[in-house]
Formats: sequence, structure tokens, C-alpha cells
Amino acid sequence: MPDSPSSLPVIVSGIQPSGTLHLGNYLGAIRQNIALANDEAARSEAFLFIVDYHALTTLRDPEALRRYTMDVALDYLALGLDPDKASLFVQSDIPQLTELTWIFLCLTPSSQLEKGVSYKDKVAQGLTANGGLLTYPILQAADILAYTAPGRGLKVPVGADQKQNLEISRDTAGRFNQAYRPEDAPLFPLPDPHILDEVSVIPGLDGRKMSKSYDNTIGIFDEGKALKKKVMSILSDSTPLEAPKDPDADHTFALIRHFATDDERAEIAAAYRAGGYGYGHAKKALLGMIDRHFGEARERRRALAERPEHVRDILQAGAEAARARASEVMAEVRDAVGFLNA
Ligand code: TYM
Repeated sequence: MPDSPSSLPVIVSGIQPSGTLHLGNYLGAIRQNIALANDEAARSEAFLFIVDYHALTTLRDPEALRRYTMDVALDYLALGLDPDKASLFVQSDIPQLTELTWIFLCLTPSSQLEKGVSYKDKVAQGLTANGGLLTYPILQAADILAYTAPGRGLKVPVGADQKQNLEISRDTAGRFNQAYRPEDAPLFPLPDPHILDEVSVIPGLDGRKMSKSYDNTIGIFDEGKALKKKVMSILSDSTPLEAPKDPDADHTFALIRHFATDDERAEIAAAYRAGGYGYGHAKKALLGMIDRHFGEARERRRALAERPEHVRDILQAGAEAARARASEVMAEVRDAVGFLNA
């Protein structure tokens, strides 16, 4: 039985404008975000945002931040997000989020923040451990919970690397409800992560998780020579061309599986196993599939890039809708915590 409209969830998801978006972002999150946002039968509303407050934890180049922020908006729109169906906006246009973050932080044991995987990773990579990095997951909890609508769930499409952050968001919602609404109906629902197993961790050129910080990415909008160079550099083992190969152990095939049709996938897997099919062949096939998959989006992106004012208008309209919801939620939060003027 289809869900009744009132029980359909609100879709919320964020992306950092801290570099050029890559196939991991696309397959792990953006593709689902767009599909869910555009599917009016599957959700009540959708808030998709570009998290520039979060990017400040690692990026100190104002020009780059502005450029990457516009780039994420262009990418989303070129990839098919319909701005009439979802609110697309920039996080820093919603100042309520910093207030909500503060209120949540006052409920968060600092030991939980110190155990944050991305905090620990970044510190291990030698990045300065600023307070923003430490408290990052609580800003993310505010990002999600600020768009709560009465009687609805919050569904958050993300890659597997966001699992812990989503657990912290759930803990934060629970802590707030427990502290301020122990008897009443809880103010916040526990957000529901939507992680698709088959794309939860997309490997990069070296087989590790595709990530800006490992410099092993293929950009969503890479094309021509630059794209070819990257695809040809995907790490492969030294099995000779004639020998049979295991497609499931190969990083090129790990990407082919997401861009191939079912028939192509079966055919190429059989060719790997039969032998006489080299990694070079597989890489050429992948290149063709990427060109086919993103061909139209590349054209749309070029056209949109000529109209930055139009893109800014879309972001403004998205921010207005997001601020309207966030201020309703903040009025309840301010009242619940005991501020004199809620
Ligand atoms: P970010 O900007 O690092 O990544 C954006 C999305 O892409 C997914 N992703 C991947 N999925 C599969 N394989 C990969 N190799 C891969 N690399 C990235 C991420 O899981 C993510 O879904 N903290 C978040 C941003 C954020 C957010 C939010 C997300 C802020 N507030 C609220 C959801 C809801 C982040 O750093 O994503």
C-alpha cells in the first residue's frame, strides 16, 4: 500500500563545496538525492543544500569557496534536479542553523565529539584540529533537524562514510527530546539514513574510497583528455591480457557496474572471466559509458554556466523556503529551552 501523503518523509541532504564533485559523490548521494527529490510520490518535500559552513572547517580560500559553491549548484541542476520540486540552497543563508547548533552542543558530551571518525581522520592527516572540525557533526545534526515537519520523518540519502554522523544526529534528536520534551510528543523525529549498499563506498583511482583528500577522484564533469588520462590510470593488477580475470576484484569493473546496462555488465564480466580481454579494453569501455551517461548533463551545465544570475535566483528561492521552515522549528526550540522571547 502506498504511504499516505502525511506520512511521506522530508528528504534532506548536504554536500560540501570543498572541491570538484566526483563520481563517489554522484553515485553515493547526488543520484539518489535527485531521484528522491524529483519523485513527488515518494516524499513530502526535499531540502538539498551546499554546506559552506562545513567547508570552512578545512577551506580558507574565499574565492575557491565561492567558486565551488556555485559549481555544486550548477552540478545539481545540470544533473537533473528540478528546482520547482526541491529547495536547493546554500547553508550559510540559513543563520538559524548556527543557533540550533549551539543549543545542541550544550546537550552533547564532549567525549562523543572527540570520538568522531572524520575528526580523528582529519587530525591523523595532519590538518589543524580546530573547534569547527570537532563540532562538525552537531552542525550536521542541526542541518537535518532544522527542516523537521510535524508528523513526518526525515530521510537522509548519503554514502556509507556518513553513517557515524547520522548516528550522532539521531542521538542529538533523542537528547533534545529527552531533555525538553520528556512527557510531550517529541519535537524531533530520529533521522533515517538512506544508504544504498551497492554504492555505499565508490573506489577511486587507487582502489581506496574515492575522496578529494586522497587525490584519487574522477570528476563528474571531467571530459576529453583529462577524463581519459584519469580512467587509464585506474590501478589494475599485472595479470596478462590472455589470462582470465576476476571482475569483482578489479577497480575499473567496480565503476563499470554502475554505468553499464544489465546486458553490458554481464557481457563484460564474462569477457573478464574468459581471458583475452585486457584492463585497457575495460577502461575504454568505461570511458564510453561515462561519456554516454553524462553527455547531456555536460551540455546543460555549459548552458547554465552562462546564466549565473538564474542559478543565484534558484538558490535564493530555495533559501527562502528553508528559512521559513527553520524559523518555525526554532520558535518551538526557543520556547522549549526557556528563552524569554521564543
Ligand atoms: P561530502 O561533501 O563529503 O560528500 C557528499 C556526499 O557524497 C558521499 N560520498 C560518497 N559516497 C560513496 N562513495 C564515495 N567514495 C563517496 N564520497 C563521498 C557522502 O557520503 C555524502 O553523502 N558531512 C557531509 C555533508 C553534510 C550532510 C549534512 C549530509 C553536511 N550536512 C546533512 C547529509 C545531511 C559530507 O561531508 O559530505
